Amino acid sequence: MSAELPLLLSETAATGVLVLQLNRPDKRNALATPLLAALADALDHAARDDAVRCVIVTGSDKIFAAGADINEMVERQVAGALSDVRPAFWRRIRGFQKPLVAAVEGWCLGAGNELLMCCDLSVAGRDARFGQPETNLGIMPGAGGTATLSRLVGRTAAMRMVLLGDPISADEAEALGLVALVVATGAARSAAVEMAERIAARAPLAMRQAKASINATFDLPHAAHLGFERQAFSALFGSDDKREGVAAFLDKRSANWTGS
Ligand code: COA
Repeated sequence: MSAELPLLLSETAATGVLVLQLNRPDKRNALATPLLAALADALDHAARDDAVRCVIVTGSDKIFAAGADINEMVERQVAGALSDVRPAFWRRIRGFQKPLVAAVEGWCLGAGNELLMCCDLSVAGRDARFGQPETNLGIMPGAGGTATLSRLVGRTAAMRMVLLGDPISADEAEALGLVALVVATGAARSAAVEMAERIAARAPLAMRQAKASINATFDLPHAAHLGFERQAFSALFGSDDKREGVAAFLDKRSANWTGS
């Protein structure tokens, strides 16, 4: 890996929209640990920056990400896998509280697909392909490629993707709910920016609370989830944005969100 090459490119795309671009083209954006760390750091930074209201994660126009870096696995044994730092980076990425949108062109494999599932909404170019091919290597997914995938697309589709290692098309990923929107090849990033701009223009606290409540589906039984949802809902009633949103509706004008 070249020390000169920035692993992650960062660009402001529109008001409130930050684009983070995986940048290891020579290794098909394989999510080596330093790249995963850079992504976690960038999201921590974005979390603290009030000007950022939505983040897009993307790859190049040819590939999203080819999975974890297989070279890092060559020498790793059980002790190394158990003490791996990667789960801590994944937790930080998964715990990002602002809306996260993925823009995918080309291959989205293994850890790439696990990263996609950390995002709240995904836009894919029609030729994108999604897969969890880890069993081809005699291992299995380790960052949501069974636990999250099966909750998201159902047991049968997850079994097919993981046990057979078969990639699925963008249209199938959309039908399964893995991606939100399929667009023409090459248009994923611009469509994701459009989607992110719409989110960025909406009430930030409402976005955050709603994201947290929808994601709690994965963790909570229904009765506890309804309680969590009610708490998230109630907390918004102390916000300036709730007062502004309701007043703007009654005044028949656009709301001016402050995120407070
Ligand atoms: N980890 C490390 N290096 C990877 C990689 C990965 N997951 N995926 C690709 N690379 C490297 C290749 O080793 C090659 O390196 P080299 O030029 O030094 O030989 C380079 O990226 C280009 O790969 P190549 O296979 O020639 O590209 P391609 O465009 O023909 O195919 C893929 C792209 C994504 C289909 C193919 O690279 C692939 O199947 N990758 C592995 C996917 C996988 O098993 N992911 C799960 C990992 S747990």
